[in-house]
Amino acid sequence: MKKKLSIVDIAQSLNVSKTTVSFILNGRAQEKRISPELVERVLKYVEEVGYKPNSLAKSLRTGKSNIIGLMVEDISNPFFASIARLIEDRAYKNGYKIIYCSTDNDTGKTKDLINMFRDRHVDGYIIAPPEGIEDDLNSLIKDGMPVVMFDRHLPQVNADYVEIDNLFSTYNATLHLIDKGYKNIAFITFASRQTQMVARVQGYKDALASKGLTPVIKEIVFNQDEDLIIGPIESFLKEHTGLDAVFFGTNHVGACGLKVISSLGIKVPEDLAVISFDDYDVFKLYKTPVTAIAQPIIDIADNVITVLLNKLNNPLSANKPQGVILKTELRIRDSSK
Ligand code: RIB
Repeated sequence: MKKKLSIVDIAQSLNVSKTTVSFILNGRAQEKRISPELVERVLKYVEEVGYKPNSLAKSLRTGKSNIIGLMVEDISNPFFASIARLIEDRAYKNGYKIIYCSTDNDTGKTKDLINMFRDRHVDGYIIAPPEGIEDDLNSLIKDGMPVVMFDRHLPQVNADYVEIDNLFSTYNATLHLIDKGYKNIAFITFASRQTQMVARVQGYKDALASKGLTPVIKEIVFNQDEDLIIGPIESFLKEHTGLDAVFFGTNHVGACGLKVISSLGIKVPEDLAVISFDDYDVFKLYKTPVTAIAQPIIDIADNVITVLLNKLNNPLSANKPQGVILKTELRIRDSSK
């Protein structure tokens, strides 16, 4: 098998130092005042001989892989997929590639994935953390790794995070239902101690409490299997026939809940008003367009990658980790009139 060309081979062929070739191939020619003519000669030769730098060797040598590890709950979920794509575009423009993966909110799987990223020498981590990985993230931070959490955060992890104002979002949306005259309002969501999920339930409860109304909450075990979401919602709605409105706590629960409402022949909003967290494009196209809380996807992605790039470009910065809290938009449609 043909021996892979190295930087030494290139330097000897061109009769220049290995260091000069290395500076040129690592984009440091200008910083090292290497002449454009020599840069041109080296790059032309490298292209002619088809030299491919060994990225692992480079990362071991330079301590940089120019790779960012992005860990989301479920990359197939439109919410996470749209944010991941925006992050990828911004990262690529700044010389970084992204490795995505899905945690499925599973602590053990997430620990494995963090170890995988460590083996690949990623330069930084962006993560929507499940519960139970505080020690793993604190160990990364102790090792000098930039970590940015988003969508939720782990209070025991001293790292930057980007979230939305979950509590106000559900408080405001629930008040909208109450202002429209709905009084028996249920909140259906995943059972979770994650900060964003806890805040959403709290906002709903606070709004009802402010008007002397009683909360009716259904928490479903988190999973991605639609049948295991639809079943409990169907039983709940069949049991609670006195409801006049329902609030779904995430996009996935909302999509499943609307399927149940349709299958039970429930009329929206005549029999039951509906609001869902996260605005799916299709919600506008429903027979009764669905009122939804829209998250600022572009701003979330922009803030996450900006915070991480700042940390990567200023490794010695002593800036105290910050929480960025973004606003959502309540998009009122016919399902809550
Ligand atoms: O599945 C995506 C939903 O859960 C969004 O509401 C996002 O905030 C996550 O927490």
